[in-house]
Amino acid sequence: MKNYIAGLSLLLAAATSVSASKGHPACPPISGDLTVNLRNIYPEGVDFFPPNCKIYVGSLNNNTLIEYDPYTSATQVIEFPGISYNKEYLICGIDYSPATETLYISANARAPWWNPGSDTMGWNLTGPNRLIHYSPLNASVLWTADVDPLVETTERRLGALIGGFQDIAEDRDGNAYAAISWSNIILKLDGRGRASKFYEPAQADMDTRTYGFGGWFVSSEDNALVLSDGVSHRFARFDLSGPDPAEPTWSAPANHPEGYATALWCDSLVVLKGFGEKVALCADVFDQMIAPHGIIAVYYSEDGWRSSEYIGAVPVEFEQAPGAWSTATFEALGRSYALMSALPYELGRFPEVEKTPLVDITDQISQLLKERESRGVGSVDALQYPLEM
Ligand SMILES: *[C@@H]1O[C@H](CO)[C@@H](O)[C@H](O)[C@H]1NC(C)=O
Ligand SMILES: *[C@@H]1O[C@H](CO)[C@@H](O)[C@H](O)[C@H]1NC(C)=O
Ligand SMILES: *[C@@H]1O[C@H](CO)[C@@H](O)[C@H](O)[C@H]1NC(C)=O
Repeated sequence: MKNYIAGLSLLLAAATSVSASKGHPACPPISGDLTVNLRNIYPEGVDFFPPNCKIYVGSLNNNTLIEYDPYTSATQVIEFPGISYNKEYLICGIDYSPATETLYISANARAPWWNPGSDTMGWNLTGPNRLIHYSPLNASVLWTADVDPLVETTERRLGALIGGFQDIAEDRDGNAYAAISWSNIILKLDGRGRASKFYEPAQADMDTRTYGFGGWFVSSEDNALVLSDGVSHRFARFDLSGPDPAEPTWSAPANHPEGYATALWCDSLVVLKGFGEKVALCADVFDQMIAPHGIIAVYYSEDGWRSSEYIGAVPVEFEQAPGAWSTATFEALGRSYALMSALPYELGRFPEVEKTPLVDITDQISQLLKERESRGVGSVDALQYPLEM
């Protein structure tokens, strides 16, 4: 277990979902497994970008962004001056924002995640953190937010280090939310990249040593920010259009299996439009009870994520990607995909890999919904999913 934890100093990322994009030609359908044929990407984040029908994969090896064409398999490497090839950084979450038709990218400090000098993730919370707002449509960085001054002010006030910018999610008004996994503080960035504190736990609940918020999404249905919390094993939900947008409500999913110690330790959390935003996927790279290379935990909610239940797991044992973990999931045109990443958990160093598989797990999710229905617990007609998009 110790070695495993040592390796665990690595992961985390995420992605959001797809929406029909305005004013752009519809994308041809996508289904089945896809392969990004570039060496040693080690991705933590990925998303589909409907305006140009491309998939964007983050490389934590080089801190570059890979543009991947799912129809031709052509790739292009996008560099960020000062961040790419700089080992202080680790590119994690990649997120499509429908409101702005842009991508948000978390280029955060490497030390919290991967620190060969330590055997615990989160042990060294130092290093630079940037959030990049990128436009694939005109291939330009719109801004790069330096959140370190705000982080440092907060650290001085708390008398403790905080860190771990895993992911980013955007609301319908073009604001972005970046949670800090060690502290559960959430920063908000406005459309110009100005950062402010959005949420901070009460002092009694402040825990800067435990992995907390790991994945999050904003539902398009009701503009709610939903986060997975590894500290309390609950979801936090912020009603961004409500009277108290920064006041969360908390709920523990029903039906977690007995002994599931890593429940809601998500490397990414994604809600699926193809499943009516009733299904969310937590990439749990930490689980070793259900499968040795972790699982994608599947959650279900009928009330906009005010309450939820665990409906099962997609184990990461894909023959397409031996030795890989799934660090994130994403959705493309109603199909759900697991991003496969070769991580240093077994070797203590990154294995050499020729490609990155994107594994279509849509049918396994449909199957879990059907099993739930056959247990007679729900009213949802599983057969209507996934929706055609
Ligand atoms: C990473 O950098 C190496 C060395 O410059 C290069 O050969 C490789 O293609 C890059 N890969 C990615 C995914 O950026
Ligand atoms: C923590 O990480 C920083 C890089 O941000 C590194 O310079 C420093 O040596 C690390 N600290 C320890 C004690 O390993
Ligand atoms: C690039 O596109 C974004 C929207 O995607 C727009 O806000 C920005 O002004 C564009 N920049 C340039 C230089 O065209």
